[in-house]
Amino acid sequence: MSYDGKRNIRVFPSPQALADAAAKDFQIAACQAQAAEKIFSAALSGGNTPKILFERLALPEVSASIPWDTAHLFWGDERCVPSDHLESNFAMTRRTLLERISIPPENIHRIRGEADPEAEASRYADEITNFLGSDGAPRFDLILLGLGSDGHTASIFPDAVIWEEPTGVCCVAAHPETGQKRISLTLKTINCAAQATFLVTGSSKADVAANILNRSPGHEKYPAAQVELESGSLNWYMDRDAAGVWRP
Ligand code: 6PG
Repeated sequence: MSYDGKRNIRVFPSPQALADAAAKDFQIAACQAQAAEKIFSAALSGGNTPKILFERLALPEVSASIPWDTAHLFWGDERCVPSDHLESNFAMTRRTLLERISIPPENIHRIRGEADPEAEASRYADEITNFLGSDGAPRFDLILLGLGSDGHTASIFPDAVIWEEPTGVCCVAAHPETGQKRISLTLKTINCAAQATFLVTGSSKADVAANILNRSPGHEKYPAAQVELESGSLNWYMDRDAAGVWRP
C-alpha cells in the first residue's frame, strides 16, 4: 500500500485479490458499526466491476461473518430504467448479492429507476437524510465507487454541470453519449463519507487512473479526481492492469 497524503493506494495481483480485500474492508466496517450498536450504511457502486466483490460477499463463508441485520444498502447511482432491466444497477446487485444473502428487505434502499428522475432524486435524497440524519451532509460509513475511462464516477460525468452542484444530496444526470438519465449521489455527499473505495480493474482505466493519482496537468476535469474526503479514508484499489501506467 502507498499513501499520498490523501489516498490509500493498493495494487492487487488480480481482480479476485482486489475483491477479497474490499470484502474484508466491508466486513470490518459492518462489524465495527455493530459493535458500536449502530447501523452500517453502505452506498454500492454499479457497472461491472463490483460484481466480483458482491459475489465474494455472497459466499456463505464470507456472508456469515457480516451482520446483515444491521447493514443498510444504498446505491451511489442508478440508471433510470426499471429494476428488472438489464442495465439496472439494482438488478445486477440482486443477481450477484441480494438473492444469496439473508438481509431484511427494509435494509435495502433502492433508487427507483422507473420513477420520474427529478421526483426520484428528491425522494431518494429524503430517504438518505431521514436515515443518516440531516445535520449537514449525510455521512455514509462506506461508499463504493467505480471509475469510467472518461474519469467519471457514480454518474458524475466530465463537463456536467451537476458535479459542481454544491448543495444537493443527489441529483439527476445524463450519460454523455447515450443521454440515459441517471440518479447519482453528488460529490458533496461522496466527500462526506467516512470511507470511500474506488474499485478499478482493467487496462482501459490505466491512463485515467494514472492521470488522477499522479495529479497530471488537467486531472481536475475528471470528477473522480474531485473525490477527496473531508474527514474520511479514501482508498484506491486497482488490479495490475488498471495500475499499469501509474507510478507511485
Ligand atoms: C454505473 C456506475 C459507474 C461505473 C463506472 C465503471 O452506474 O455505471 O456507477 O460509475 O462504476 O462506469 O463501470 P465498469 O465497472 O462497468 O467499468
